[in-house]
Amino acid sequence: MSRILLGVAGGIAAYKACSLLRLFTEAGHEVTVVPTANALEFVGAPTWAALSGRPVHTEVWADAHEVPHVALGRGADLVVVAPATADLLARAASGRADDLLTNVLLTATCPVLMAPAMHTEMWLHAATQSNVATLRERGVVVLDPDSGRLTGADTGPGRLPEPGEIEQVALSLLDAGVVEVVRRRDLAGVRLAVSAGGTREALDPVRHLTNASSGRMGLAIARAAALRGAEVTVVAAAISAAIPGSVEVLRVDSTAELAQAMTSLAPASEVLVMAAAPADFTPAHTSELKLKKSGAEGLTVEFTQTTDVLATLVKARHEGQVIVGFAAETAGSDDELLRLGRAKLARKGCDLLVLNDVSGGAVFGAAENAVTILDRSGVVERASGNKNFIAHRILDAITDTRGVVA
Ligand code: CTP
Repeated sequence: MSRILLGVAGGIAAYKACSLLRLFTEAGHEVTVVPTANALEFVGAPTWAALSGRPVHTEVWADAHEVPHVALGRGADLVVVAPATADLLARAASGRADDLLTNVLLTATCPVLMAPAMHTEMWLHAATQSNVATLRERGVVVLDPDSGRLTGADTGPGRLPEPGEIEQVALSLLDAGVVEVVRRRDLAGVRLAVSAGGTREALDPVRHLTNASSGRMGLAIARAAALRGAEVTVVAAAISAAIPGSVEVLRVDSTAELAQAMTSLAPASEVLVMAAAPADFTPAHTSELKLKKSGAEGLTVEFTQTTDVLATLVKARHEGQVIVGFAAETAGSDDELLRLGRAKLARKGCDLLVLNDVSGGAVFGAAENAVTILDRSGVVERASGNKNFIAHRILDAITDTRGVVA
């Protein structure tokens, strides 16, 4: 359980902060809400109080004997401001302390995450961009807004990222090591392509063969890399989790399509991550018409092998490029698992291999995982916990490898 202070500024996206608050409390965190006076025009104090189960603090002058502007900032493990309006960003960047929330921002020593939301013109304005740059220089983690439909009929960058996305980023910042690399934006200028999810191989127009991959590990890598400043493209096969708005997406179905997408991104990418679970076999023939059961005793399907995407990428690797593979293995012991991992890394020729023990199908779809990261000389690191946390450890191994191969 962590103590999260949720600051809400006065924008229409304040209503989405109710869902964010709910996600934090359902995950077991204690949340104190500090809405600005303008935020209360959109969502009233009783809503924040009921959803958080705690008193709502709105003014510097209320309960002055408890010195709330100092106590709230000091007592938080994490401050999240969502939505952060252009005005709030400006006041925070210039160190103003003209209401309770800006006072809290000046007294908080914990990580601070801001999720901006405003009209595109306001976001792109030089004043806002300079305020964001100032806040980032000072160690505040400022998310880029999503692109899409805004309050009116207009579209463009300025939407509040989805509450589920803000929650995942926020909770990853409870880890001190993650905060450090995110603040440094150590992947700025790096282009990273990551595949995620299970491919679907069609049998006929309505049936396909797929696997249990949820895509969550690949999406966690995409989210973490974007947070560290990388330009990220996700090649998304079938996935059962939301894709972060901070990344480009190429949708694919089959292993053949996935191979084509990754191969087209490879020449311009410094890092390639094959976190997807591509089918190794595809039906030799896809029926153009729906297969009928009437008159058939049974069904025999002939399969052919698909392209090994990872091996294809390794063959075309350019200088300085880092290629990461994954291996999901079932093994009787840790030694056996490492032996299988080492053999696969050597066979595939990738720079890093992220090894999963999937005995019992434990990893698929779960928020948590335990992995061993291997390079050609052996075990680099073992990491366990939330997939967002593991993603950062994998990116750490990638940046270390880049230092060697660059
Ligand atoms: N992979 C790939 N193309 C395929 C199958 C797998 O690029 N057609 C990638 C996966 O994304 C993963 C790595 O190869 O990064 C290892 O996947 P895995 O299924 O463990 O490898 P296989 O070579 O299929 O080995 P096995 O025979 O053990 O299944």
